Amino acid sequence: MPDKKTYYITTPIYYTSGKLHIGHSYSSVAADTMARFKKLTGYDAYFLTGTDEHGQKVERRAAEAGVTPQQFVDEIVAGIKELWELMDVQYDDFIRTTEPRHEVIVQKIFKQLYDQGDIYKSEYEGKYCIPCEAYWTQSQLLEGDLCPDCSRPVEVVREECYFFRLSKYQDWLIRYIEENPEFIQPVSRANEMLNNFLRPGLQDLAVSRNTFTWGVPVDFDSKHVVYVWIDALSNYITALGYGTDHNELYQKYWPADVHLVGKEIVRFHTIIWPILLHALGLPLPKQVFGHGWLVLDGGKISKSKGNIVDPVLLCGRYSSDAIRYYLLREMPFGSDGAFTNEALLNRINADLANDLGNLVSRSVAMVEKYFDGVIPAPAELTELEEALRDRALALPNLVENHMNGLQYSGALSEIWKLVGECNRYIDLTTPWLLAKNPEDRPRLGTVLYHLLACARVVAVLVSPFMPRTPARIFEQIGIADAAAQDWASLRDFDRLVIGGKVQKGEALFPRIDVPAELAALQAMQPTLEPPKDEKPEITIDDFAKIDMRVAEVIACEKVPKADKLLQFTLKVGGETRTVLSGIAKYYVPEKLIGKKVVLLANLAPRKIRGIESKGMLLCAEDDQDNLCLLTVDGDIASGSGIS
Ligand code: MSP
Repeated sequence: MPDKKTYYITTPIYYTSGKLHIGHSYSSVAADTMARFKKLTGYDAYFLTGTDEHGQKVERRAAEAGVTPQQFVDEIVAGIKELWELMDVQYDDFIRTTEPRHEVIVQKIFKQLYDQGDIYKSEYEGKYCIPCEAYWTQSQLLEGDLCPDCSRPVEVVREECYFFRLSKYQDWLIRYIEENPEFIQPVSRANEMLNNFLRPGLQDLAVSRNTFTWGVPVDFDSKHVVYVWIDALSNYITALGYGTDHNELYQKYWPADVHLVGKEIVRFHTIIWPILLHALGLPLPKQVFGHGWLVLDGGKISKSKGNIVDPVLLCGRYSSDAIRYYLLREMPFGSDGAFTNEALLNRINADLANDLGNLVSRSVAMVEKYFDGVIPAPAELTELEEALRDRALALPNLVENHMNGLQYSGALSEIWKLVGECNRYIDLTTPWLLAKNPEDRPRLGTVLYHLLACARVVAVLVSPFMPRTPARIFEQIGIADAAAQDWASLRDFDRLVIGGKVQKGEALFPRIDVPAELAALQAMQPTLEPPKDEKPEITIDDFAKIDMRVAEVIACEKVPKADKLLQFTLKVGGETRTVLSGIAKYYVPEKLIGKKVVLLANLAPRKIRGIESKGMLLCAEDDQDNLCLLTVDGDIASGSGIS
């Protein structure tokens, strides 16, 4: 037997400063599904995930909680591992950046880069966002010196630092990206990197800190700890034993086939990481895929809108398979998509309870009713059966093509076309009428046989996406033999056990009463505490200086060079205005069109990213990073004053 082809896939390693929400599970569910798919299709796949545990934020959170940073992260990591178990995220290794196997190699990497002159010592002063652990230049900051990534205030930090000579490798990297179009996917993200960061010129990167201690110490300069990105990115090779005597996994799996990352960290993975590897003389990952975000319809992933974002709760209520299906089906992998309780429940009802669930339960019920549960042999085939068979036999290839392009949603929609075809086939063939006429019995057997055979194909194909459901389908349609459950078995349509027994089971996905369930979810929302930050008293004259207006959103789009900025075109009475707002991660821009919002109209204009913003949109924000744009409820003309 020739060696299996290897496939190495990774998720980002998650920050351990707080609990994960449903948005975080997106990267992991996607990576897990791909690893399962590759294993199913014959690869020796290796799936790595883990946690990014260092940094000032953890240090602060631990101090607030009155525990050591290590105790703090240990507890968070235990929760993350439980979550992955619950969601069937079956990793081959889990790397923690606080593990000695990681820290030792990070120190070694840092030293090597220093010794060869790629890292040097200098001084840095800049505006630093602590939660994002990033310095920003003045032109990158939002008005009011707010971080363009998270909209929180930045702090001025001055420190002695080690720097990594990114600038030295800039031209090499530009060429590499140009010559390897597969390296950054989707392609739009490659253009973004080239145009926004690489071609304008790279600055050397600060790669150590001496303002906190919760990090990997620089072993030759104990005042410093290694800054988060060198520490974090190295996980992809330290986990494989790179730099040790036991580097068999590294030899086997590196370079990675794909790093799955959210779009906001594509930059780190496609600029710092390749340069780091190149400087070390190591091959680059074959691909970095930047996926979109799950955003709330009218707010970022948060609890404020009554949407349940706790994946543990969601999985407990609807099953992890349903949640996994929703995450991968709802939006194309490179794009953003809305998350709402309602969309989730409707998707479960339509695709899982109705389409798939009904197909299996109706087919099995009819075999029980008309054939005493015994799987009938097919008789003569008509065009209808030929069409179903052709579709089922062509499906694995189609699914594989979608998966090779990381198009999970495309793959699922192909599978659901077969499910839909089967349900239409039931309507066309009307088995309940065939059952009335003894002469039609062979025809009835043929129809039911084909339904069960298609259910088998669907069960095999959905197994990477929904690991628990296939076993339940196989049991109902009488497939016990593992050889009829694998990828190779899909080459053959006829793998049912004729004469074997079906076994009616519980509904795969019980139908949800959406209004009742929405109300139940709403009732589970914890009430939010009132804000703590009080401001000094003002007079009515102070307030009178503020000109607030109702404005209608005519257009809204993302600002190309800033992930977090939205550009609004507003109608304010007879005037049209452009206003920028750093709320992109909280909203899907198109959904805001037509809304009436509250504009602070007499705020001095300000240029951000070369665009003049005239005024500011009012938002409410709580202390859990939940944000809502203020809108006007009711029919009132734009331009109306607010007092
Ligand atoms: N620690 C860094 C990654 C270092 S990798 C060498 C980090 N961690 S994170 O916890 O903030 O994010 C981990 C992943 O979760 C990112 O890919 C991020 O995009 C993803 N998501 C967090 N919220 C998300 C949504 N709302 N939707 C989709 N993915 C989201 O960044």
